[in-house]
Amino acid sequence: MKKISTIKEFRKWRKNISGSIGFVPTMGALHEGHLSLVSKSNNICENTIVSIYINPTQFAEGEDLDTYPQMVQADLDKLSKYEVDCVFLPGNSEMYPEGINVGNYDNNLFDILEGKSRPGFFKGVTTIVAKLFDIVEPTHAFFGEKDFQQFCIIKQMVSDLNYSIEVVPCPIIREENGLAMSSRNKYLTESEYSIAATIFKALESGKKLLKDGELNGDKLKREIYQIIKSEPAFTIDYVSVASGDTLEEFEGELSGDILVSVALFLSKTRLIDNFTYSSPDLHNC
Ligand code: PAJ
Repeated sequence: MKKISTIKEFRKWRKNISGSIGFVPTMGALHEGHLSLVSKSNNICENTIVSIYINPTQFAEGEDLDTYPQMVQADLDKLSKYEVDCVFLPGNSEMYPEGINVGNYDNNLFDILEGKSRPGFFKGVTTIVAKLFDIVEPTHAFFGEKDFQQFCIIKQMVSDLNYSIEVVPCPIIREENGLAMSSRNKYLTESEYSIAATIFKALESGKKLLKDGELNGDKLKREIYQIIKSEPAFTIDYVSVASGDTLEEFEGELSGDILVSVALFLSKTRLIDNFTYSSPDLHNC
């Protein structure tokens, strides 16, 4: 497993790599969610490259850039158990040689859901992912459905900018209590960790309503809201029932692919989770 921290050295190494190349971009503090992406890349691609870089442009003022967990040695130990050909660990001066700035790419998904709550977030994400794609030149890139909107935006960016990269979605990996794994779960106290299990319970309850044939998005939202609100420690940012294709909020009857997503705070920790559901096409019954 090669460890490289400069673009120059990376490009030199990359020249001699042939065959399919799977790329897993991360911000480190790796957990089984990240590692499932690495494993999927191992299964699909001949080579796997992982990057670890905490990207400053996707953190807003007042967010947790300064406290974001960093544990590079532990990350490398975890990655050494997989077939990782190279770990790319650049610093800010490599990724932003002209200072911290963002690119021009824009997309109508930037300002809804996560983007509404975190202005500038997707500008930062697409800036760094495009830079990494240009350096790594992968054939495949692996993204978790935990960040469903991020996955959709990257897929759209790849199409808009004509990257020849297959963007591969990977399912959400959860803790035993149902909490979606996240590097930010490290901020949670033991009691917050148990309380956080309620998020998955609320989503499961919403999914059951859908499976039972509920077509009213507001009812679905109310159900999820109420279950989450039963824990006073939560501050809800949003509960959304949107189209899984356009990510636009549903008005009227639910149909087609549905994305149910939530964002909330538990103390200062922001947690997100979601599920997608394909409603049966009644016309084909
Ligand atoms: P990070 O939060 O480190 O996540 C890296 C990748 O792991 C993302 O594709 C994310 O969706 C996936 N992931 C995280 N938790 C997961 C889980 N529980 N199950 C499945 N996949 C999971 O997302 C980022 O970093 C950054 O925005 C990045 C794309 C690296 C750009 O800076």
